Amino acid sequence: MQRQAGSGDLAFLDGYLFRVMVQILKSEGVNESGLYNYYRARVEEVGFALSHYDRMLVDYVQARFDRQSRRIVHAGTGLGTLPCALAFAGYTVAALEQDAGRIRAASQVHAALADAWPAAAERYQLIGGEFPTVLGGTPWLGPKTVLIFTNCVTTWPDELNAKIMASLKTCGDVIMDTRLFGQMRDTPDERYAFVRQLEAQGIDAAPMAESPPDAFYYHLKPTLGAP
Ligand SMILES: C[S@@+](CC[C@H](N)C(=O)[O-])C[C@H]1O[C@@H](n2cnc3c(N)ncnc32)[C@H](O)[C@@H]1O
Repeated sequence: MQRQAGSGDLAFLDGYLFRVMVQILKSEGVNESGLYNYYRARVEEVGFALSHYDRMLVDYVQARFDRQSRRIVHAGTGLGTLPCALAFAGYTVAALEQDAGRIRAASQVHAALADAWPAAAERYQLIGGEFPTVLGGTPWLGPKTVLIFTNCVTTWPDELNAKIMASLKTCGDVIMDTRLFGQMRDTPDERYAFVRQLEAQGIDAAPMAESPPDAFYYHLKPTLGAP
């Protein structure tokens, strides 16, 4: 049976992934590597592979969701640090990324995970393409799915935004940072309006006490099958 991944295990994984990210950045450059400024800052200014919210989410998921019966989808995964950590902790994970440079870099991170922890890498499927379209016809979205959005600000066009909002209602649980979902919501009023919009669509939205102070994570429980 898979045991809980503790902070020591995650620290070890973090050091390993950090080395991989440094190597990609130094050998390929900021833009050519697909790290862009976002992950350059993670490497050069933060000094960790796993973000503070990645770590919070691994603990949150481990405390609430069964490894055997639930599966995780991480939409807009970037370099895929969160799915690496969740697969390392024993979860079956699909991670979606639409940007070609990021997909290439996330593939390198995935390959490095496979070198060190092949069983974990087998549990983690990196899928290139736009969420949720690329999951159409797959079993990844359903009542057993825990759908996670971390920093996912890209200003989706209306049609894509409507598809993403509809996808929330197909999953048993959804976890998201309401500040960084689609568009930036920096004010309490903007986040309040968004949460009311979710509730109006039959989605229960509870703020997560574990959310870091600079984030506004919510755990959503859609009423499955609601129109
Ligand atoms: C700012 S990055 C952050 C990556 C990661 N979520 C994190 O918090 O570290 C957001 C990523 O989401 C991806 N993305 C946004 N919308 C997407 C969609 N609909 N399908 C797939 N990827 C998406 C972008 O290409 C980008 O790489």
